[in-house]
Amino acid sequence: MSVLVTGGAGYIGAHVVRLLADAGRDVVVVDDCSTGSPERIGDVPLVDVDLSTDAAAGELARVIRSHGVDAVVHIAAKKQVGESMQRPAWYYRQNVGGMANLLEAVAATGLERVVFSSSAAVYGVPDETVVDESVEPRPINPYGATKLVGEWMLADAARATGLRHASLRYFNVAGAGWPELGDPEALNLVTIVFDRMARGLRPLVYGDAYATPDGTGVRDYVHVLDLAEAHLAALDHLDEPDRAHDVFNVGTGAGASVLEVVDRIAAESGTAFDPEVVPARAGDPAQLVADASRIAAELGWRARRGLDEIIASAWAADRFRRSRYS
Ligand SMILES: NC(=O)c1ccc[n+]([C@@H]2O[C@H](COP(=O)([O-])OP(=O)(O)OC[C@H]3O[C@@H](n4cnc5c(N)ncnc54)[C@H](O)[C@@H]3O)[C@@H](O)[C@H]2O)c1
Repeated sequence: MSVLVTGGAGYIGAHVVRLLADAGRDVVVVDDCSTGSPERIGDVPLVDVDLSTDAAAGELARVIRSHGVDAVVHIAAKKQVGESMQRPAWYYRQNVGGMANLLEAVAATGLERVVFSSSAAVYGVPDETVVDESVEPRPINPYGATKLVGEWMLADAARATGLRHASLRYFNVAGAGWPELGDPEALNLVTIVFDRMARGLRPLVYGDAYATPDGTGVRDYVHVLDLAEAHLAALDHLDEPDRAHDVFNVGTGAGASVLEVVDRIAAESGTAFDPEVVPARAGDPAQLVADASRIAAELGWRARRGLDEIIASAWAADRFRRSRYS
């Protein structure tokens, strides 16, 4: 039996695929390579399907049957907050439509296990600085809303069919498990700083008057390899007959400020920075850190790597990518 990984050719997906393959599991990837790349998964079978199209449910059902799939890790999605605010309908079609097609294929084939890439974006701007899963989700942008709706769709499918599912609410993912699997996009603080360095620009700090120890925003950075390991733990969890919860934060439980991250990058790269402070952005919480106790208690998963390993591995991956493509 094999595991279907949607979005397996992307940044996070390729790490999950490699860990599954290394664990001896058969894997098949479905990805339209809109942001991913086939070279990230080597010789793992890749089926090109755009999950948001009408034909996708039938195509997915064929993949599930022909590859003997018995579990899905559903990672494929569009993930840019700003883009989601400019093109909300398209985001719903991509992320919610993609989930609807997947769940139709799951129902048609009698598949019983789905692990879903959700996000801390479902929380929006919570009153709490350390959030556990009981905090009411109140997304503040279409991207976060599509993730929350995805969780609801899984819960509804479970009520209808007995599907077993786990939604993993990722916090700030960074780092690389292998240099060739680094994050190719400048969409999170770490890779945005790398991108500005490459263009000879100073790192930007959005706001330095937050109620945090150094005044800059605090986030929970989780190493992508730790995150990938959480998916294997979640798949194992779905084999257990009694499961208390379906939604899990995936973070370290510890925060790092923007200045701490920038300082760490300066030390790792041997570059002296003078970050430029610019006005805070609307909707950015001062601090957003995971309470990661549920996933530790129920899945036995804990982040094992800290900020130093995140930055060192991300920097090595950035060097690798720039030497290869320049
Ligand atoms: N990177 C983060 O910090 C972060 C944080 C929280 C949640 N997430 C979630 O994790 C998942 C993976 O994120 P990532 O950072 O690896 O992004 P990514 O863009 O590298 O990966 C997404 C993958 O999905 C594929 N894809 C997108 N739309 C598709 C479609 N309609 N049909 C088929 N394939 C499609 C892309 O080609 C790509 O390979 C996403 O669901 C994202 O919302 C990411």
